Amino acid sequence: MSKLIAIVMAAGHGTRMKSRLPKVVHPACGRPLVFYPVRAALELGAEQVVVVVNPQSHQAVQEGLAAHIDEGQISFAIQEVPQGTGDAARVGLARVELNAEDRVLILSGDTPLLTSEALQPLLDSLATEVGLSFMYFCPQDPHGYGRVVRNQKGQPISIIEQRDIREPAHEAISEVNAGVYLGRAEYLEPALRKLTNENAQKEYYLTDVVAHVAACSGTAAVEASATVLSGVNDRMQLREVEQELFARIARHHAENGVSMVGTPLIDDTVQLSTDVRLEDGVRLRGRTSLGAGTWVDVGTVITDSVVGEDAHVKPYCVLTDSRVGNGVQLGPFAHLRPKSVLGDRVHVGNFVETKNSELKEGAKANHLAYLGDAEVGSRSNLGAGTIVCNYDGFMKRRTKIGADVFVGSDSQLIAPVTLGDGAYVATGTTVTNDVPEGALAIGRSRQENKPGYAEPLRDRLRSQAEVEKSKK
Ligand code: UD1
Ligand code: MG
Repeated sequence: MSKLIAIVMAAGHGTRMKSRLPKVVHPACGRPLVFYPVRAALELGAEQVVVVVNPQSHQAVQEGLAAHIDEGQISFAIQEVPQGTGDAARVGLARVELNAEDRVLILSGDTPLLTSEALQPLLDSLATEVGLSFMYFCPQDPHGYGRVVRNQKGQPISIIEQRDIREPAHEAISEVNAGVYLGRAEYLEPALRKLTNENAQKEYYLTDVVAHVAACSGTAAVEASATVLSGVNDRMQLREVEQELFARIARHHAENGVSMVGTPLIDDTVQLSTDVRLEDGVRLRGRTSLGAGTWVDVGTVITDSVVGEDAHVKPYCVLTDSRVGNGVQLGPFAHLRPKSVLGDRVHVGNFVETKNSELKEGAKANHLAYLGDAEVGSRSNLGAGTIVCNYDGFMKRRTKIGADVFVGSDSQLIAPVTLGDGAYVATGTTVTNDVPEGALAIGRSRQENKPGYAEPLRDRLRSQAEVEKSKK
């Protein structure tokens, strides 16, 4: 059985990105650029994908891909010196054992819009009499690309690089090489061995394999859309390509029953159930998933978090590495920091911040609170301005609040402290000691009323102010 092997060339330096990061690991929709061609090759049925890297980018590319793809399916080949695409392909092929009938797909690491569906016609074109197929497109301005040269029968016979063009007839060719090839090993391997660097750029051109294969078997050229083949060379192209990826992701979710208003931006890694509703300016990142019927309102940013069903995340919330149950009401302006866990039907309201804390089913913290390293039992209610003082400048300590507890507004809970089930903390209390189950904790100075004192106090303050103003 003939197997399919893919080579993804990614050893170029990507200098036009002006970046410390190798070009192909720049993120687009939450994945490194090189992930997309690797995925396309795997979806097309490639048994193995060899990514050709340079010595400087090797580690970053390997780490970048490891977070997104099973490492068993990919290997890396290091091209020590960038001597051209022909050399990159040779370096990649040296990593695999091929039989004569095996097929080799060659892609570039910087074309993230290429999908397995777009590649399928290339696979289909490799009929028995064809030794090599490649993709071409017709851009508005072909200048800069390699041109596809055909014989009188219309068969492709060679590709001529822009810098090697000497005849006006070649300059005028509108069909350009896309840099995507599929060859049979028995033709491709000998053709790669024949490459020389006798050309304008003193490089080994992969494009020259077309002429070598055309001389001994047939070649085929398959047209594809310029969009699908767009490459990323600079930050503007990265932006354009990412916009197209975002549009595709939105289309995919819309087809699966998700409503979107305006332009929510959804990473490729995100999972959404039916009847999710996303409003303008929502950003969903990383390993995030939203359950059926959940509504995320304007301007919310959710990263690596799981939200259950029928939750309402109101405008301008920030959720990171957290878990939110069914029917939860969140925000506006709530901040769930890492390891926050909200049970079903919890309410967390405006200007409430949680971190490494669990609120169990039906618990509420509706206004202006900080809950760090805390556990809050079912149905407990934390009043406005409740602060868990979890940090003494040296150590973080835990606070445990039982079920059905009421904490009055403007209370501080100084960790470590435990409030038993059903406890009641009076407004304005600083809780320093554990509160037993069912007890009332009240810790504030007593109020004193002085009848008739208000007016004399005003008189005194008024005359004091007049004296001070007259001195100015
Ligand atoms: C290449 C084609 C050209 C085609 C164009 C389409 C050649 C000689 N020319 O030109 O016909 O129209 O793509 O975009 O192939 N790479 C390596 N090692 C190297 C050189 C390149 O891994 O030594 C990688 C790059 O990282 C990149 C890919 O190969 O991913 C293509 O290289 P690039 O330099 O962009 O080729 P072009 O000059 O654009
Ligand atoms: Mg290029």
